Amino acid sequence: MQKPVRNKSNIICIANQKGGVAKTTSTAYLGAALARLNRRVLLIDSDPQCNLSYSMELDEEQQEFVLENNLAAMYESGQDADACTLRLRDNLSIIAASPDLVMTEVTLDSSPETLADEPERILRNRLEPVKSKYDYVLIDCPPSQGMLTLNGLVAADWIVIPTLASVISLTGLERMMEQVHEIVHGDPPFNVDLKIMGVLLTKFRKDRAVEVELESRLRGCPEEFFVFKTVIPDRSQFGLLGELRTQTGRSLLDLSMVSYSLLPYLTLAMEIEKILMPKPVRQA
Ligand SMILES: Nc1ncnc2c1ncn2[C@@H]1O[C@H](COP(=O)(O)OP(=O)(O)OP(=O)(O)O)[C@@H](O)[C@H]1O
Ligand SMILES: [Mg+2]
Repeated sequence: MQKPVRNKSNIICIANQKGGVAKTTSTAYLGAALARLNRRVLLIDSDPQCNLSYSMELDEEQQEFVLENNLAAMYESGQDADACTLRLRDNLSIIAASPDLVMTEVTLDSSPETLADEPERILRNRLEPVKSKYDYVLIDCPPSQGMLTLNGLVAADWIVIPTLASVISLTGLERMMEQVHEIVHGDPPFNVDLKIMGVLLTKFRKDRAVEVELESRLRGCPEEFFVFKTVIPDRSQFGLLGELRTQTGRSLLDLSMVSYSLLPYLTLAMEIEKILMPKPVRQA
């Protein structure tokens, strides 16, 4: 299979300040899906809740490693990204979070003079020397617009915005768009290369008229943003069997199984690869 944007790592931030819209779940499954397509993937858990890290069900030795080598250590002690990276299996690695990230965010916000780099550029700078080792770097952001999310967006080439098809979630989407606009066009702009790859509808229930209606309204305004063709169904749509087979952690990393939950993310991974495929250059 042809690789998208050769020799270039694609850094994708999975962000929405609205809580519970499946940012972490999407980061974990999309990462696993891309790794299964033979892409080299680095996951970054940039949320003090540490849900992405916990969901990998690390063994004792791995837990010991991430106690010292994690994202907070990378921000605060100047360790480079490689030193803090834990290999989960072929093609899939993680820079884990720790609860200390709460304090990291406070430091980034209130005492930037104690840091060697500009506070919003630290993640970008630390990833620079290692990013060419990966086809994809996926950053799981916390449900806020603070410094950790800002660092993710400044480091990223792309943002994927998971959202539920509910009116309240769509107001969160608007705020996310405003933040992206500020990052690209602000004075000074933090990251002129940041692009919205798409809005991802998650926990979608096609048996709910209101969700179907909101989906079609969202798809009706393509000049503002693209909505991925792939929709992540609510697990209840798979029936009881689907819910029971929900997987995280070790089972997510097990190559012998494809769960109901992983399937839509494999479709999403292929859609993303298509979006990133280099366009043929037309000769004049
Ligand atoms: N497709 C799905 N169907 C049903 N439940 C789901 C689905 N995807 C995720 N969930 C559940 O929704 C909850 C929130 O998911 P998740 O933690 O991924 O969201 P989040 O946006 O990362 O939350 P936060 O904003 O707190 O970081 C979890 O209990 C998760 O198991
Ligand atoms: Mg989360």
